[in-house]
Amino acid sequence: MGKVTELDKLIENRISFDESNFDIEELKNNLFKKYEECAKKYKVDKDRYLGRYIHSLGVYKMALELNELFHLNVDKVKIAYAAIYHDYAKFASLKDYEDIVKKYNLDKDILKKPFKVLHACLGCYIVMDELSFYDEDVFNAIRTHTTGDKNMTPLQELIYISDCVEENRIDPYFVTMRRIAKKNYKKAIGIFLRDTVLRLKEEGKDLDELTIDAYNDYKIYCSSGNDKISLVLDCIDKNLVKDIKVYDAREFSPFFDFIVVSTALSNRQMQACISYLQDEFEIKGVESGEEWTLIDLGDIIVNVFKEEDRNKYALDRLYAHLPLYQE
Ligand SMILES: [Fe+2]
Ligand SMILES: [Fe+2]
Repeated sequence: MGKVTELDKLIENRISFDESNFDIEELKNNLFKKYEECAKKYKVDKDRYLGRYIHSLGVYKMALELNELFHLNVDKVKIAYAAIYHDYAKFASLKDYEDIVKKYNLDKDILKKPFKVLHACLGCYIVMDELSFYDEDVFNAIRTHTTGDKNMTPLQELIYISDCVEENRIDPYFVTMRRIAKKNYKKAIGIFLRDTVLRLKEEGKDLDELTIDAYNDYKIYCSSGNDKISLVLDCIDKNLVKDIKVYDAREFSPFFDFIVVSTALSNRQMQACISYLQDEFEIKGVESGEEWTLIDLGDIIVNVFKEEDRNKYALDRLYAHLPLYQE
């Protein structure tokens, strides 16, 4: 028999995911203890680690919600372990990572990855090592939560996308992504990967191989020919405005492809709608009044009316000859 490696020892120590001996409070306490320990050792600011702790609980909640919503039937105990511990190693030092590479006899090149990624691809070893358990699904979900990967299991997908869209993320971009995820979580994964690839390229940063693989795997979910109009609709969807009609002008106008006519219930909604679109798309122009706002996205025109004024302007009548676009 060959030499027993540290990894073999870890694997031997498999956890049994039995709901009856599962205590979510224990997981939360372990994470909190770890963060307090790091705070002392590495002088991590209290706000920072509390924020990270709350984020981890948010990932857990979102992953459970998406699991239910899409009937994925992923084991809830595994979701808890992967979600609560996905950022367990967030405050580790380079020395901690070097030690784990040595202990598990891993390829040293892994340390050349961007530091930000190490809490995932080496964090999975740190979690299992310090908490003395092994589960392949949980291990992989933690490993790929920042980069994604090809052929992700439902648990990996849940942790990857929940990390992006959990409810404590309140920037408009994440709010929109959350909406998309709740409608079509695979599409949200594709869009998030695409945005990550574009951002890293723009910033001149190296792309992780896993991210490229993941993007190639998931881009089919976000790259249909009518992608832009779908994204616009996701952006302004029913939570924000109502009675959305999309007129398909592709056969009829050389200037634009789609005209969206919609109704906002309040001024605040109208403003929110504009700011979401501004965050996501290049805006060619905005004409904004009390009763009606027109947002020009080049090939798509978005009209948002106040409820009482939509009939007055009768745009729906004006465009009645155009076919309605169905998603
Ligand atoms: Fe993370
Ligand atoms: Fe995270």
